[in-house]
Amino acid sequence: MIRLDDTESTIADINLYQDRIGPYLEAIRQKNQGFHTIIDDTKTLDDIMQFVRSVEGRYTHIVVLGIGGSALGTLCLQQSLTPLYRAHPHNSHHPHLYVLDNIDPALLQETLEVIDLKKTLFIVVSKSGKTPETIAQYSFFRKQTDNADLPASKHFVFITDKKKGLLRTISDKEAIPSFIIPDNVGGRFSVLTPVGLLPAALIGIDINKLIRGAHTMRDIFYTDDIEKNIPFRVAALQYALSKKGKSITVMMPYAQKLERFADWYRQLLAESIGKAHDNDGNTVNVGLTPVKALGVTDQHSQSQLYNEGPNDKFFMFLSVQDFGTDMNIPVIHDDPSIDYLRDVSFATLMHTEQKGTQQSLIENKRPLITISIDTINEEYIGGLFMLFECATAFLGEFYSINAFDQPGVELSKVITKKLLT
Ligand code: PA5
Repeated sequence: MIRLDDTESTIADINLYQDRIGPYLEAIRQKNQGFHTIIDDTKTLDDIMQFVRSVEGRYTHIVVLGIGGSALGTLCLQQSLTPLYRAHPHNSHHPHLYVLDNIDPALLQETLEVIDLKKTLFIVVSKSGKTPETIAQYSFFRKQTDNADLPASKHFVFITDKKKGLLRTISDKEAIPSFIIPDNVGGRFSVLTPVGLLPAALIGIDINKLIRGAHTMRDIFYTDDIEKNIPFRVAALQYALSKKGKSITVMMPYAQKLERFADWYRQLLAESIGKAHDNDGNTVNVGLTPVKALGVTDQHSQSQLYNEGPNDKFFMFLSVQDFGTDMNIPVIHDDPSIDYLRDVSFATLMHTEQKGTQQSLIENKRPLITISIDTINEEYIGGLFMLFECATAFLGEFYSINAFDQPGVELSKVITKKLLT
């Protein structure tokens, strides 16, 4: 189960908005956005699995080319649901996955050096089919495969719009296999479409379980009971607290494997809620600034600021009960200064440090909530994706803005192109 623990003070803030949950749910439904309905598309799931079976054993490397919403979800899936060091060939019978979320030439060149081109599948992901970074990455690797006389239709898959964009044109012309990003699903909401599901399935992640977890959270999202609707509670709190000057949301997972989840969320919150205009065209310049922190690592980097710096932050802790492994910390030196570690496991130390951090924040009157999962598996990760996508949609309603567009990102794409021509 995914649980939300809020503190007494935060509950008071949430309850201010009791009456809004029904109307907001209705408004979100009316918008016909696909982030909450896409998980009913069983045909696409079947198509993905069929493709995965058809290429089984053919590739040793998978390289995802894409940026922003086309890459961050996949990076998160890889980190949370496969061994951290699977990059080592002896660790897996699945292909090794590289997700290139940048155009740094060193990244491209060094990726080229570690892959076996003849056994590599490039997944090119772009909803618009024309994002400069993605097209540049694609062109670089396509040139390599062309030079090596490798057929594009065997070494590339495109995930893009059904009809529009350069990738769609190339796919049609050269019979390059493709999957669709539905019209009504934006990049940062697309992890549960082929964008995240295809690479995930290719590296052995059970995508049916991911979707199952998302379904469980969607049921919670659809309820108008404020006690149960976790996405609504999260959004209501973010909104209420922002009105009290807490315009920064810190997501702090206490799990190494959820660090990338906070990266994924950073984009979702920033791009969805940071808007110049409200739905009536008024200039509002709203937004919540997402900050990513990792427990326990950032206790030794950020805690001082969080406790004593400006009181402008709301903290969302992600907590994992069972890390899938645990061991006692061996106390091998007979020294009273480390006696407190006797019979303590690493998981206990993690949990205790989390409690300590939270307690200190509470004492310093910093608002926080904890979202807990039993363990890191496909169901919970699917559920967490859905939880924060739904919370973000609710936030759009609170602020009365369009949470699903990104005119600011588009503008920078246009300007870059102009500067280059
Ligand atoms: O969330 C978004 O819409 C953006 O971050 C996009 O994912 C990103 O700009 C890449 O765009 P595209 O998928 O069109 O290549």
